Amino acid sequence: MRIAIASDHAAVAMKAELAQWLAELGHDVDDLGPNSTDSVDYPDFGYKLADHVASGKAERGIAICGTGIGISIAVNRNPGVRCGVVSEPLSAKLTREHNDANCIAMGARLIGIEMAKACVEAFLNTPFGGDRHVRRVDKLSNPQTSRQTA
Ligand code: RB5
Repeated sequence: MRIAIASDHAAVAMKAELAQWLAELGHDVDDLGPNSTDSVDYPDFGYKLADHVASGKAERGIAICGTGIGISIAVNRNPGVRCGVVSEPLSAKLTREHNDANCIAMGARLIGIEMAKACVEAFLNTPFGGDRHVRRVDKLSNPQTSRQTA
């Protein structure tokens, strides 16, 4: 699978470790930066990751910052992306099954590398559940239509 990964300065080390591990597992990894711990702004890298996934350059995206929250907000501003913030594998599994998430976000200051790997494994290996979830996921892409039904 082609997987894009991006972070801010708070998560460069976790990003590097995940990128290497994913490559060792046989995935094609697009590391979108940053490549040093110099301070950067997480929206810049969140938008870059979202554009990469929404345009089809990668099938899945992994976004990491200190908490996972800031970068997830940036990623989710792109309507072509559904990004769940996860800190354990059950959430990573359910955001695939229910939300057809094509990105996850994690907090490098909140979870360790082994937990991050467990989240990524669940994210990559769980299929979308389809069925009733299709209608709901479609509504995420069409907020104007959806507002008229509630
Ligand atoms: C950077 O200090 C920090 O604010 C960022 O990594 C993230 O936690 C924001 O949500």
